[in-house]
Amino acid sequence: MAKPRIIDILDKAEIGQTLTAYGWVRSRRDSKAVTFLVLGDGSSLKTLQAVIDPGIEGHAELTHVGTGASVAVTGEIVASPGKGQALELKATRVEVLGLADQESYPLQKKGHSMEFLRSIAHLRARSNVFGAVFRIRAALAQATHRFFAAQGFHYVHTPIITASDCEGAGAMFEVKASTKDHFFGRPAMLTVSGQLNAEALAYGLGRVYTFGPTFRAENSNTNRHLAEFWMIEPEAAFFDIHDDMDLAESYLKALIDTVFAERGDDVELLGKFVDKDLVKTLETTRTATFVRISYTEAIEVLERSGRAFEFPVKWGADLQSEHERFLTEEHFKVPVMITGYPKEIKSFYMFANDDDKTVAAMDVLVPRIGEIIGGSQREHRLERLERRIVELGMRLEDYTWYLDLNRYGAVPHAGFGLGFERAVMFCTGMVNIRDVVPFPRAVGQAAF
Ligand code: 4AD
Ligand code: MG
Repeated sequence: MAKPRIIDILDKAEIGQTLTAYGWVRSRRDSKAVTFLVLGDGSSLKTLQAVIDPGIEGHAELTHVGTGASVAVTGEIVASPGKGQALELKATRVEVLGLADQESYPLQKKGHSMEFLRSIAHLRARSNVFGAVFRIRAALAQATHRFFAAQGFHYVHTPIITASDCEGAGAMFEVKASTKDHFFGRPAMLTVSGQLNAEALAYGLGRVYTFGPTFRAENSNTNRHLAEFWMIEPEAAFFDIHDDMDLAESYLKALIDTVFAERGDDVELLGKFVDKDLVKTLETTRTATFVRISYTEAIEVLERSGRAFEFPVKWGADLQSEHERFLTEEHFKVPVMITGYPKEIKSFYMFANDDDKTVAAMDVLVPRIGEIIGGSQREHRLERLERRIVELGMRLEDYTWYLDLNRYGAVPHAGFGLGFERAVMFCTGMVNIRDVVPFPRAVGQAAF
């Protein structure tokens, strides 16, 4: 243990061992004879108690040390007589690294509202809940790389600055240079999706995935939309829509497996303080067989439900969040994968079904979130693809390179995009997407 983190000390230190623990004071308690400092360092939720006798080196410095201050405590690991911990650190020396003014430090009291914590986003990682959320976020990112590597997907990087609007929704941010007009010689935007580039790479590498930031200028101030969010986009040659659904289902389950395996104590905390049903929802998702239905069947279920939805249910209209949540939370009570959406409400690149009315799109809906994944089999038949682009009033010349992909060696291929923040919401129980990304960017919000 070169410079042990607190989790290392708690897991591996032996009674009698001498070491230095570094951390922030979570709480301070003074009894007649001794001072107790509970230390945390972000390595996990767990804390180490340091017991400090008067007269040890550095003791005089402790006067102004309270919650939020940073310290280095050297001492001997002893069995703890107190409840709640097996080990504690009997200090021989304490060094104050940084004080935290007890009048102004905002995180002393427990039970701040999420809104308040959002207003101090630069400090909230120090709270237990946000520590848990961001550790789970990190674990999900690592799990993503492990999962796709194990399935033979190559990790690729696609550009953030782009000249094509993949989703055709037009809600994009423009990129301009301060040094030169028309820097790129054409209008350039921040990407909404790496998919089109990923398709090009899948046609060489077979199976690829991206994991990067994406940007949407949607003016929707909901608790599920950000202007800057991260997306994981696998793309696989020789995959059809069914392979795509299989991949999506096993990926989501692998994410949950990792959360339980690696961040069990964080999930437990969030289950206590944020969402009482969290463990149950995750356990159900991990073990259930996802329901697979067509859009047409979904519309029938919604029509038969007798529910008064805010948005009307009608074949041809897009499913709203309330419809998605009804299907997955109340009707099927497990994740639902919907395929065969009307072509009018989906993007130009999707594979046309034989009915010529629907496309091989698939959305994955999960409880509490609604749509967590959107994907499709891609249209690889060049003529149909060109026809669709023209039908939609888009310009063929803007898609020359994309069309080339299917001019040479076209094969069925498919992929999807998982909204990473929505996955973090799902795995943490957090209800506002602004609380699962450290520094959220949304309409009217770019502080920190
Ligand atoms: O359904 P979407 O728009 O699909 C695509 O962008 C495809 N090109 C993906 C692909 O096939 N490669 O977005 C995918 C996912 C959504 O299901 C949602 O989880 C998330 O991205 N998402 C957002 N997350 C946060 N804020 C937003 N504004 C989001 N828009 C989409
Ligand atoms: Mg979508």
